[in-house]
Amino acid sequence: MGNFTEKETNTKERIYVVGGTGNLGSLVVQELVKSGNSITVYARSPQKVQQHDAITVVQGDYSDLIPLKKSIPGHTRLFLMVGEVSNIRDVVVAISKIAYAADIQQIVEISVKRLPWRKFLITDGHIEAEKIVYALPERQKNNNNGVTTTKSFVSLRPTNFMSNVVVYYLDSIKNENTLIDTADPNEPQEWTSNTDIAEVAAKILRDPTEKHQDAAYGLVSDIKTPLERVEILSKVLGRTITYKQVSAQEMYDKFVKTDGMDHATAYYLASYQDVDPVTRGLPILLGRAPETFETWVIKNKNLFL
Ligand SMILES: NC(=O)c1ccc[n+]([C@@H]2O[C@H](COP(=O)([O-])OP(=O)(O)OC[C@H]3O[C@@H](n4cnc5c(N)ncnc54)[C@H](OP(=O)(O)O)[C@@H]3O)[C@@H](O)[C@H]2O)c1
Repeated sequence: MGNFTEKETNTKERIYVVGGTGNLGSLVVQELVKSGNSITVYARSPQKVQQHDAITVVQGDYSDLIPLKKSIPGHTRLFLMVGEVSNIRDVVVAISKIAYAADIQQIVEISVKRLPWRKFLITDGHIEAEKIVYALPERQKNNNNGVTTTKSFVSLRPTNFMSNVVVYYLDSIKNENTLIDTADPNEPQEWTSNTDIAEVAAKILRDPTEKHQDAAYGLVSDIKTPLERVEILSKVLGRTITYKQVSAQEMYDKFVKTDGMDHATAYYLASYQDVDPVTRGLPILLGRAPETFETWVIKNKNLFL
């Protein structure tokens, strides 16, 4: 194994980004630009991409990857985050095949915490995609000296994003000062900071590819119960937020009937019940302590006002 130092991280390589307009992807774009990388963002809505001299935008969708195929040569790394689409496995695999065939040396993809196979429909797509991409023949590279090397494939496996609090549970916090969820008030729940994921992804994309090889990193930043979460929300927002536990059926019905969510996502969000400890290796990947739920609320306070 080599000895890798911060000095060896690159700022010269061009990095291709898929998913750069989302809650997480936009932070990855910011991180890469901050460190001086030149990046290309593939986006269906170019106006959503941050404007910067170092950023080139290519307009495109998952359903037609020709713009991606044409624009990816010349890049050496790919950050890949595919949104919650029903054919997520096929999209991740199709983009990865194109990328490796275009001589991308490393893909850093956003996967999901490893759960038993077929436990949840919406996590299976990620699990299957990881297995297929890992085995892609396009990852093999025949070098001039007759030696075959394998291009890097790194998976980040976060659990519930802290931003889910805003994406799925904001209305009742804002309008009724109530956090609604299905967990027992004292049940520990896992949270992953979007900032932590973005910083880990950006660091890996700047590290030498040999450092992370084909690693798959679990990412749990903080554990907080619903009662701890309302205590933090109350303190930071300066008003009392209370917790209301509802049944999984009530939560599911709200997601499906009021929010128009599909069955697989609503079932997952209403019934998820699993807790791993804060990832011990995360400070090694981050070079700092993981972000807490409280820090995340402080940074995003305005969204709750
Ligand atoms: N949320 C969680 O708790 C969690 C936990 C673990 C893993 N994950 C994984 O993280 C990923 C992102 O999750 P999210 O829902 O939080 O993402 P998000 O912030 O909604 O971002 C999704 C991204 O995908 C893009 N996108 C969606 N459909 C597209 C299409 N048809 N063509 C091109 N671009 C498209 C979006 O573009 P626009 O800006 O144009 O919409 C956006 O850039 C998913 O793979 C999810 O499984 C999420």
